[in-house]
Amino acid sequence: MIAAEPMIDCDLVLVNVALATMRSGTPYGAVRDGALAVRDGRITWLGARASLPRSVRATAELDGKGGWLTPGFIDCHTHLVYAGNRAHEFEQRLQGASYEDIARAGGGIVSTVQATRSASEAELLRASEPRLARLLAEGVTTMEIKSGYGLDLANELKMLRVARGLCAAHGVDVQTTLLAAHAVPPEYAGRADDYIALVCDEIIPAAVRERLADAVDAYCESIAFSSAQVRRVFETAQRLRLPIKLHADQRSDLGGAALAAEFAARSADHLEHSSAEGIAAMARAGTVAVLLPGAYYFLREQRPPPVADLRAAGVSIAISTDCNPGTSPTTSLLLMLNMACTLFRLTPEEALSGVTCNAAQALGASDRGRLEIGMTADLALWDIDEPAELAYAFGANPLAGIVHRGNVVRWP
Ligand code: NIG
Ligand code: FE
Repeated sequence: MIAAEPMIDCDLVLVNVALATMRSGTPYGAVRDGALAVRDGRITWLGARASLPRSVRATAELDGKGGWLTPGFIDCHTHLVYAGNRAHEFEQRLQGASYEDIARAGGGIVSTVQATRSASEAELLRASEPRLARLLAEGVTTMEIKSGYGLDLANELKMLRVARGLCAAHGVDVQTTLLAAHAVPPEYAGRADDYIALVCDEIIPAAVRERLADAVDAYCESIAFSSAQVRRVFETAQRLRLPIKLHADQRSDLGGAALAAEFAARSADHLEHSSAEGIAAMARAGTVAVLLPGAYYFLREQRPPPVADLRAAGVSIAISTDCNPGTSPTTSLLLMLNMACTLFRLTPEEALSGVTCNAAQALGASDRGRLEIGMTADLALWDIDEPAELAYAFGANPLAGIVHRGNVVRWP
């Protein structure tokens, strides 16, 4: 007599799906005609449908209608929370003004700071919700949101509370990043060092005390902060055990990539002007390169980030919207996949890794970004025949289903 196989109880089994697991070894880690089982918010089994053990018993079975299942998308660099918009600056730039001209004339980041300071917490939440809804409609299940339009203690914390509130209200996982060192606020004009002292002595410690920040970021650029000033911010973050990120080498090479690597930053972002030494340092430190094609496109940059060098050095590459009112007013991560390929010459597979496994690495979120047993069951189902379509068809949105932490949010 053959002993009966023990039953494996699951909450959910998905069948009639192709899996883009993003495991290395085969393109996209693909499994055609696959199945995937979920229990307690985690993936408990996945593979070819034909090898799905008969003992897997699920409360619910869903038919993916032949679509592709990917890890839920991760948008690892956004400034999603802000008030107002900067359409008038877009018009100024079309008349010939540069991003720097506008910033030096008191516009740019500082104009969004005025609007954000004037907004109540409830107003800021309401202003940010439609942007969040548009991101989630393209398969995002985890995202990062930065502060940086408050630039004083009360308003930086207000922004971070709004980011936490968005997470609670909308069924998406949000990591918050304190970006108080984003610009010199008007009341500190000509006294950038004094503002950095405020950031280090008051704003970062308060954000840590109130558990509002999961990481710290800074903007290292001629119109923002020098590498010496950023170093002070990073030393404070390190002392308070906050992970580090950096807006690095976007418009000029101030040695941002190497500085980020020196502090073992999780990511260095933008990188259009990074040097070979900076990239080598990132490779040694395991710092992820977050590329932001939306900002590159919108500012009509001419020098793409050194993708071939990043590849050769073995640096992980992530892709993100950089959703913000000044340089990348987009909420489409799918469009960023296309731009990463057309503008930066990534392959569609590299681009997809950039919004799944490598974006997870940029956030230090090792429990997501791949389809693997034990990973959080954040899943996106796409009505496509091949995974490369996600990067190929710009302006399309083939999202058909979403599962967040094992809960079915939407299914065809
Ligand atoms: O990532 N570079 C600095 N920060 C943003 C732009 C912010 C703004 O212009 O409002 C960025 O591009
Ligand atoms: Fe940014």
